[in-house]
Amino acid sequence: MKGTNNAFLWGGVPVLDLVDKFGAPIYVYDCAKIAQQYDRFVAAFDVPSLHVNFACKALTNISILRFLRSLGAGIDAVSIGEIEHALRAGYETSQIVFTPSSVSLKELDQAAALGVRITLDNMEAIRHWGRKHPGYPVALRINPHIMAGGNRKISVGHIDSKFGISIHHLEEVIQVSKDAGVRICGLHMHTGSDILDVQVFLQATEILFAAAEQFELLDYIDFGSGFKVAYKEGDIETDIELFGREVSARFRTFADRHNPALQLMFEPGKFLVSEAGLFLAKANVVKKSPTTTFVGLNTGFNHLIRPMFYDAYHEIINASNPSGDKGIYSVVGYICETDTFAWNRRIAEVHPGDVLAFKNAGAYAYMMASNYNSRLLPAEVLIHDQHPHLIRKRQEMKDLFRHQTDPPLPF
Ligand SMILES: Cc1ncc(COP(=O)(O)O)c(C=O)c1O
Repeated sequence: MKGTNNAFLWGGVPVLDLVDKFGAPIYVYDCAKIAQQYDRFVAAFDVPSLHVNFACKALTNISILRFLRSLGAGIDAVSIGEIEHALRAGYETSQIVFTPSSVSLKELDQAAALGVRITLDNMEAIRHWGRKHPGYPVALRINPHIMAGGNRKISVGHIDSKFGISIHHLEEVIQVSKDAGVRICGLHMHTGSDILDVQVFLQATEILFAAAEQFELLDYIDFGSGFKVAYKEGDIETDIELFGREVSARFRTFADRHNPALQLMFEPGKFLVSEAGLFLAKANVVKKSPTTTFVGLNTGFNHLIRPMFYDAYHEIINASNPSGDKGIYSVVGYICETDTFAWNRRIAEVHPGDVLAFKNAGAYAYMMASNYNSRLLPAEVLIHDQHPHLIRKRQEMKDLFRHQTDPPLPF
């Protein structure tokens, strides 16, 4: 172990040791932080039946899913591939909710064949369901038409959003379900990510409670997710305890009248895993322009696209020199496009070969990585009880060619 007094640790392990052992770039996740967030989430609610289904799109690695299962979580899946991950991780079908958007009827049939809980998001799917799967209850995703979410790209409950069935079509949807002989067992909504204001979230839940009044017997109400975490010291995060208190009281009143066995569901992704993840990359080059000092890394938006795609902020620490004097750097990638992770950031003095650590790299980070520029995907490591475990190997050059067929073409 290289650990010195000022070594930068993750999950109790010096990150430079992790880079020595597994190489860089690399994603590292800390079980303890995931457990802390899961416990905090569960403790925020006071209802007889709470189901926390991890939105596994945020971090779809079987080992992560297994760990969350051991904590008591279920799974929110949006594709057959995600359902397959959950099944391999040992989840029961009753613990998996399928909440896709605009998928084919064939994919819905596949999900039905696997036996998971299903959410439909359009009229055609409801009619199809009645014909094809009589007796299989389903939930409906309702779009409450609320503008919630950190920015337009991650706001999905507004009136122009493709998601869900418009709340304005509720009467029609109830009629269509009746005519098609489909039992609606749940209502679902998800209005966006990074919602700052608990009141906005509560407003959306009121719309769903009002909609729920119009159904005969629901088994569950699923309020989706959108809980914001902190991206830097002092950053605003969703006051989950306040939200939990308010929504639990409202839910209990509703359930007493409607169905005392009613289940309250959520699908947090970011809240559970964002802060548990660290992305480590090495500085290839430090170079100056007349106005800026750039640090060029051995990674780019092929591995972490959130800063470029969502304008997301990731705190960056020089893990090789954590307590060094600070300089001002723009941190960029090696992709042949503008792939700037951060402009003019205060970071401890950087030299080529230093390891830079990106925080909040647990959610939508590895999962959105690609092979652009024919670069290889990094490895993933999970730390449990201060022991690092390799949970995904780094890609090799041969992986880039695996699905290319090279047929005998006339040239
Ligand atoms: C249907 C659904 N549920 C849950 C989530 C998770 O959201 P978050 O990561 O903000 O918790 C998403 C994210 O896109 C989603 O689309």
